[in-house]
Amino acid sequence: MKKTILVTGGTGFIGNCFCKLLLQERPEWKVINIDVCTYAANPHTIDEELKNPNYVFYKEDIRDRKKMDEIFAKERPNIVVNFAAESHVDRSIKNPTIFLETNILGTAVLMDCSRKYGVERYHQVGTDEVYGDLPLDRKDLFFTESTPIHTSSPYSTSKASADLLALAYHRTYGLPVTVSRCSNNYGPYQFPEKLIPLMIAKATNNEKLPVYGQGLNVRDWLYVEDHCRGILAVLEKGKVGEVYNLGGHNEKANIDIVKIILKELGKGEELISYVADRHGHDQRYAIDPHKANVELDWDPITRFEVGIKKTIAWYQSDLGKKWLAECIESEQEWLKANYENRD
Ligand code: DAU
Repeated sequence: MKKTILVTGGTGFIGNCFCKLLLQERPEWKVINIDVCTYAANPHTIDEELKNPNYVFYKEDIRDRKKMDEIFAKERPNIVVNFAAESHVDRSIKNPTIFLETNILGTAVLMDCSRKYGVERYHQVGTDEVYGDLPLDRKDLFFTESTPIHTSSPYSTSKASADLLALAYHRTYGLPVTVSRCSNNYGPYQFPEKLIPLMIAKATNNEKLPVYGQGLNVRDWLYVEDHCRGILAVLEKGKVGEVYNLGGHNEKANIDIVKIILKELGKGEELISYVADRHGHDQRYAIDPHKANVELDWDPITRFEVGIKKTIAWYQSDLGKKWLAECIESEQEWLKANYENRD
């Protein structure tokens, strides 16, 4: 059936992968991407999508109520999926305000427009960071959808606020909302401020790989396309008013990730440099994706050994190298601020 789906943050890493998936697997749908293109969105990410007649791009800010109203009035989307967010924990520690503005107030603008023009679904893309962290010595514990919200950073607090607001709009106004919460994504087109692409970029250039603390913090890695398939499953099979956890069944300590990347690139471990830890650093994330598996028939299918090879191969390809160089150019100031003279 023909639908118009409005994706925000569709020039970013996960949002773009979701648009690609839709254009490929729902070719009768019209895909609208709204993205203000912050530092984290390399405009070349959507070069291919722009050639597709079913794809429309608006370079606009979700905080701009007037512009959002105009786009909703014109496009009349059936479905809204909100990926647009400031997403880097370290940056939120240095400058929280923009996280509150985009992640909370921007979400409210989109939901107000969704109410005004009527949508059949508003989906909020969330994160497992809203549950806080798990201790390293309790391998038996996992985040479920009923784990209490208990955030650590300004970033995760802004995302938790957005989730709560979305659920409140469902209960108070009857907006048909769903929420998904994912674990750490990886794959092509991820901005090189996040662990995996940053380490690939640095190792490729024989630069030091900055590992926070002792590198023992654990993350649950999910291949980006598996995550996007999970979101599509929530849209098509999920129940309104519900939260779904989407995890990778794939816990790894940071130091192990770094060593895997070095090995894959044929580089030595002497490149590893242990640096001062992140303030308030969450110890372990681990999602129990049972609900999504039972209710949506969703399971992550990409094994990490396969996904990481595909990811590294992409960053080593001509396209990946060019894309990465463009991002790194725009990132110099941040790399200095976060890594030089780390306290
Ligand atoms: O769980 C999902 C979340 O995963 C998303 O909601 C966030 O948007 C995303 O940024 C990510 O948060 P993390 O803080 O876990 O991701 P990041 O890639 O920044 O860091 C992963 C781990 O690697 C974390 O324990 C910190 C560590 N790290 C990170 C960087 C950038 C280092 O040791 N060195 C680094 O230079």
